Amino acid sequence: MKADIILEAVNVTKHFSGANSWFSQEPTVQAVDNVSLRVRRGETFAIVGESGCGKSTLARVLMRLLSPTSGNVLFDKRDVSAASGSALQALRRKMQFIFQDPFSSLNPRMSVGKLVGEPLEVHAPELSAQQRRDRVADLLHKVGLRAEYAGRYPHEFSGGQRQRIGIARALASGPKLIIGDEPVSALDVSVQAQVINLLGDLSRDMGLTLVIIAHDLGVIRHMSDRVAVMYLGRIVESGPTEEVYTNPRHPYTRALLASIPAMGSKSDGKTPTVLGEMPSPTAPPPGCRFHTRCPHVQAKCKTDTPNLHSANINDHQVACHFWEAFPDPPPLTPSPPKTKAVEARFALYRAAVEGGTVTYKNHQPTERP
Ligand SMILES: Nc1ncnc2c1ncn2[C@@H]1O[C@H](COP(=O)(O)OP(=O)(O)OP(=O)(O)O)[C@@H](O)[C@H]1O
Ligand code: SF4
Ligand SMILES: [Mg+2]
Repeated sequence: MKADIILEAVNVTKHFSGANSWFSQEPTVQAVDNVSLRVRRGETFAIVGESGCGKSTLARVLMRLLSPTSGNVLFDKRDVSAASGSALQALRRKMQFIFQDPFSSLNPRMSVGKLVGEPLEVHAPELSAQQRRDRVADLLHKVGLRAEYAGRYPHEFSGGQRQRIGIARALASGPKLIIGDEPVSALDVSVQAQVINLLGDLSRDMGLTLVIIAHDLGVIRHMSDRVAVMYLGRIVESGPTEEVYTNPRHPYTRALLASIPAMGSKSDGKTPTVLGEMPSPTAPPPGCRFHTRCPHVQAKCKTDTPNLHSANINDHQVACHFWEAFPDPPPLTPSPPKTKAVEARFALYRAAVEGGTVTYKNHQPTERP
């Protein structure tokens, strides 16, 4: 059966030109390079990679908050890369963004009622003031906040509550798709669980599609259906989440998984780093962009760019010339089957984290020649 695709990126590239002056020309930042992906209706699709690899830039291009330098973004089969005016406004209604930082993404001078009601003024101008208040109360209820909070201001809330307000605001226009850029990474672990549960519930109950950017590989494993791994502006591996986690094929994915600190120890809140520094996106290495850090690098890697191609199994794709030559990865504790109850799903994740049963620590990448 053909998958129902809601969002598609086709060869999307985003470069930021450096400032040009009499004395100097700053180099161009190649933030996203030739990325193609397809998000299925109703799924949770995760994008993961180290800091600076281009995740937020890609998310902003997908949302049309940035225009691509080249390539196209299709939402419900319509090309949105060049949308403007009323077409862009209609698009904004269907695609919403949740930001990482619930402290700075909400205007501190606006009450919660105004913050959540504002999108309704734009997208549902036919509503009377009373109808709008009722909708705001309903949205607050959906995200687990009391209706009487509408009169309060953002500073009166905790981080988790503020993120709930951000989610209610995102839901106000009745979107089909929500992109969350690190939506829980600024929150305490216990609050992360609640917000993740909420997003899972909302996606199930409202038929929403979620695109989640996160550096916490544990969170992604237990909340997403499919995952794309980015490195220096490119997708290097993608596929069903459980398949990628238990059978990673790209050396970068393997190293990223190996660098999870046994998942029982506390995260430092940063993306895990792998085998030294990532090169600058102003001068990405030729050939395979990962070749300067890859333990399996060969001459071909330094000249030929590997494209994503099928790794044989079940929609699993990998961009590496030599992935077939690598031995199978050591076994990773299989994830328990997903249940319908998101609470149960996250309880399993937390038990795994707290008990340290999810590990990848046996895998040691070989020394680079
Ligand atoms: N507006 C901009 N102008 C110039 N360079 C930019 C701009 N936005 C992002 N970049 C650069 O593009 C690259 C990718 O940045 P991006 O924010 O997309 O990465 P990221 O994967 O989201 O990182 P993080 O995990 O730290 O949020 C970085 O080198 C960044 O400095
Ligand atoms: S193409 Fe070469 S350098 Fe790139 S990941 Fe594969 S083996 Fe490593
Ligand atoms: Mg980012």
